[in-house]
Amino acid sequence: MSKFKVYITRRIPDAGLELLNGHCEVTSWEGDDAIPKEEILKHVPGINGLLCMLTDDIDKDVIEKAGPSLKVITTMSVGFEHIDVEECRKRGITVANTPNVSTDSVAELTLSLLLLTARRLIEGVDSVKNGQWGPWKPMWLCGVELTGRTVGILGLGRIGYGVAKRVRPFGISRILYNDVCQVSHADEVGAEFTDFDTMIRESDVVIICCNLTESTKHRFNKDTFKKMKKTAILINSGRGGVVQHDDLYDALTSGEIYAAGLDVTEPEPLPHDHPLVGLQNCIILPHMGSNTWDSRIHMAETSAKNILSVKNGEVPYGLVK
Ligand code: DGY
Repeated sequence: MSKFKVYITRRIPDAGLELLNGHCEVTSWEGDDAIPKEEILKHVPGINGLLCMLTDDIDKDVIEKAGPSLKVITTMSVGFEHIDVEECRKRGITVANTPNVSTDSVAELTLSLLLLTARRLIEGVDSVKNGQWGPWKPMWLCGVELTGRTVGILGLGRIGYGVAKRVRPFGISRILYNDVCQVSHADEVGAEFTDFDTMIRESDVVIICCNLTESTKHRFNKDTFKKMKKTAILINSGRGGVVQHDDLYDALTSGEIYAAGLDVTEPEPLPHDHPLVGLQNCIILPHMGSNTWDSRIHMAETSAKNILSVKNGEVPYGLVK
């Protein structure tokens, strides 16, 4: 019997490959950079499993090109908006992702980004490097402290919950959250469910931890920024598309909100000459929420296990419903 054929669209940690080798016939794109779409199209015909990344556009063309042999697509990410899930459903192809294994790394990064932004740490580091650090000045590089503030979280899933748990010990006064529905684990972190408008009006810090969906697309736009506090800090470690970036630029330059910290942007990569990059009150990271070896190894292993489960007729851990 011929082996289960798997195509991997990037170099991944050995831990994932070791699980597949021996059980599957594996071929991979050997680069660290994103594989061109034509290469994906060239390699998918006749495969049984596809292991892809969040940068790969797995649309109807790719799915069609793979043909009826394709049984499973797993993405080495939590986000799966780059896969045409509806098309997969029609064709009986299982779609899976890597939930949970990067929760801690993304939650830690989100907190780091909040502290970087609130305490103006990048400006501080730059001032030392640039020789601008002079004698102590009482009014210099003052930021905002978290103690006593209200934090609003959009999306209290695993990552939102991880962020809430980590921000609590800073002595914040309230955590508000908004999501598609109330969640029972909110009580464990003392988070209060509110409608979206109440959350953005009352929060000193607003943290985006949700997926990109039709309803979250550009949820933060000029109308939203008008309703936020002028002292508010916006943090986004969910998806760039949740924020309308031109409106964010206007809000940050007109003083409608105080500062922003983004680990995700629209587009990615954000061009280095994008107006937001030049702002001192906007810290931008290159989508590095899950960039720890712990997470990456677990993401590769989970992706491999998702494929093996489908091969063995089982439901994969990361089944996308
Ligand atoms: C994910 O897993 O979707 C993250 O955005 C990658 O860091």
